Amino acid sequence: MQPMQIKFPPSIVALLLQFAAIVLLLLTVKVTGWHGSPLLIAALCGLFALIFSFIAGLAKWWLAIQLLFAPALVLMLAAEFPPSLFLGAFLILLLVYWSTFRTQVPLYLSSNKVWQAIEHMLPGEKAGTGFTFIDLGSGLGGVLTHLASVRPDGQYIGVESAPLPFFCSWLRIRLLGYRNCRVQWGSLWDCDLSECDIVFAYLSPVPMEKLWNKAHTEMRPGTKFISNTFDVLEHPPQETLQVDDMHRSTLYVWLM
Ligand SMILES: C[S@@+](CC[C@H](N)C(=O)[O-])C[C@H]1O[C@@H](n2cnc3c(N)ncnc32)[C@H](O)[C@@H]1O
Repeated sequence: MQPMQIKFPPSIVALLLQFAAIVLLLLTVKVTGWHGSPLLIAALCGLFALIFSFIAGLAKWWLAIQLLFAPALVLMLAAEFPPSLFLGAFLILLLVYWSTFRTQVPLYLSSNKVWQAIEHMLPGEKAGTGFTFIDLGSGLGGVLTHLASVRPDGQYIGVESAPLPFFCSWLRIRLLGYRNCRVQWGSLWDCDLSECDIVFAYLSPVPMEKLWNKAHTEMRPGTKFISNTFDVLEHPPQETLQVDDMHRSTLYVWLM
């Protein structure tokens, strides 16, 4: 029997390693009787957390966060900002990023040039034939509203799990009056892709293999799955398109 492997998200691992660093530092202080300034103690704590995180194999941006976290905490406490400021900032970040610590898919937006490139990947305009396009993780709804305006013969659906981006995209669609466009608040994993002609996603490397399998199982033959920036190692796409935007985005296209 295989041993059960529990894989924590990097944010939880980082937090546990901060705790480990604090415990180690408190033990060192107790055993040696050493007294340093709070900032020096926090700096050492950051150094321990950095070393632990390096050994644990966390990505390099986590190393910087781990090093600076405890000193930043001490400096912020010394500045005596009102606690409501931190609560407010926390709530806003929570509403924007929601379950990013678990999904590892934060909010960032496709460029206008990506929107235009997708435009050319939609089915040709024929009188009376429509198509359904879905944006999995639709963010602020930019992809949907752009396509809905240039190709009103399609139906556009967005699914978004983070409350604030969902609300902004819902409002955007309402205010612009698009009748062929809607967003739903929920998880992309609960969407049935069998009715969609084009599935678009701009997520992160983490869910791509699982998403490709979902698309491959649910989508009908002849339909298209497009991923912005993130490909799937085991399943090379039939088409790729380099977009001339700031990020040099690549669109990967699988024909189902
Ligand atoms: C990189 S943004 C892309 C936004 C938009 N599609 C675009 O191209 O501009 C990814 C979005 O996916 C959302 N997301 C991540 N995991 C999700 C899930 N399981 N279900 C629904 N939305 C999700 C995030 O909240 C974020 O808004």
